[in-house]
Amino acid sequence: MPKAKTVFFCQNCGSQAPKWLGRCPDCGQYNTFVEEKLEPQARSGLSPIEGPRSIPRRVEEIEDVWEGTRLSTAIREFDRVLGGGVVPGATVLIGGDPGIGKSTLLLQALYQIARQNKKVLYVSGEESQHQIKLRSRRLGIHADLLYILSETELEQILNHIKQISPVCVVVDSIQTVFTSQLASAPGSVSQIRESAARLIYHTKKAHIPLFLVGHVTKDGTIAGPRVLEHMVDTVLYFEGEAGSPYRIIRGIKNRFGSTHEIGVFEMREGGVHEVLNPSELFLSERPKGASGSVVVSSLEGSRPILVELQALVSPTHFGLPRRMAVGVDLNRLLLLLAVLEKRGGMPLGSQDVYINVAGGLRINEPALDLGIALAVASSLGEYPLDPDMMVLGEVGLSGEIRAVAQADVRVREASKLGFKKCILPAKNTGEINGDGNLELFGVRHIQEALKLIRP
Ligand code: TYD
Ligand code: MG
Repeated sequence: MPKAKTVFFCQNCGSQAPKWLGRCPDCGQYNTFVEEKLEPQARSGLSPIEGPRSIPRRVEEIEDVWEGTRLSTAIREFDRVLGGGVVPGATVLIGGDPGIGKSTLLLQALYQIARQNKKVLYVSGEESQHQIKLRSRRLGIHADLLYILSETELEQILNHIKQISPVCVVVDSIQTVFTSQLASAPGSVSQIRESAARLIYHTKKAHIPLFLVGHVTKDGTIAGPRVLEHMVDTVLYFEGEAGSPYRIIRGIKNRFGSTHEIGVFEMREGGVHEVLNPSELFLSERPKGASGSVVVSSLEGSRPILVELQALVSPTHFGLPRRMAVGVDLNRLLLLLAVLEKRGGMPLGSQDVYINVAGGLRINEPALDLGIALAVASSLGEYPLDPDMMVLGEVGLSGEIRAVAQADVRVREASKLGFKKCILPAKNTGEINGDGNLELFGVRHIQEALKLIRP
């Protein structure tokens, strides 16, 4: 019998080495190598002989099967992030902190599909059937076509998928699944890789969409090999701030849709509920008339979301001034502070500056620049901005205000929510055909914008 080979795998990135290493040469993490046995007969299920014979065809000859056949989860916020429903045969990986609501959301999504008279299967390696029954009672689920399986062995799971032949499968979580063909422990890199590969292979062949739940590591990425993210079609993160009931689902990769879309949910007693008007939500606790608070508009995919940006500027007591940014890029903040100092003549060198996006949203968009700058100015000068004003605009290094994308959509959303004024790049004013309820202030330079808000 051939001898079992021992290989060391980095548990962070999946890199292989013949001997133990203290530091992974690929990802640079320390102490991540773990010994795993490779059985000589273990073969992945993807051997070319087994696979369906395929022949090259001209792109025009291939029938369009995807678009019309997307499976809707009937949860609009979830469908939007998926690109309008999930494509048959696609694999969706959902990561997120423990307790954030991944299992709850997926169980609810399956329930919605089961209500459309379709058979679905929820495989859990973490909870027993009774625990899931309890949860589904809490969620008000009564469905004949929702099957629950509590199983961790890959071969069993594949058998059941074949037997039940559901239209959609959830495997919660991929880290608990193991195949007896490999000797290494469940959750190890080779187990995750092998289990995922075989699940994906079989569901793709059967044209079943597959949702995989993935645990996340301390630094927030999906645990297990990085290759997992390459193997799947869509990667979503379910995130939220500790203590806040709001949850955001965000696309990181999507072969069948845009990755800019986000879905907003609220975690309540009866499970996760979609929030159809997130702007109202993010602005609901806004202190009107406080200095340092500015409303900006972020475009998440096709949807504008109004959020409150807060700045706090206070004198530095010793040494270097501190700068902190939550929800926006710190480097962007540093750059804007330099522009404010040099082009706006503001003495910020002896001030600590803190920026926060209320509601826990993370935004990475240049259209926020002017909002950040004005929030800092407002906090420094202790003068509040008009609470009915929204601010848009990118700031350049010479203090010029540059046009932003899709200003029209953003202004319309502000108008819908009752905003009365908008400071925006002068270049954008021409493209706005609002309803006249909103007064526009076009600006070309940061100085002009600062003049507008000074009392
Ligand atoms: P869960 O879906 O188990 O999280 P994950 O699978 O991401 O680890 O969510 C568990 C949390 O959600 C738990 O803290 C309780 C809360 N919860 C509600 O607030 N309402 C509900 O109806 C349910 C089912 C859970
Ligand atoms: Mg769970």
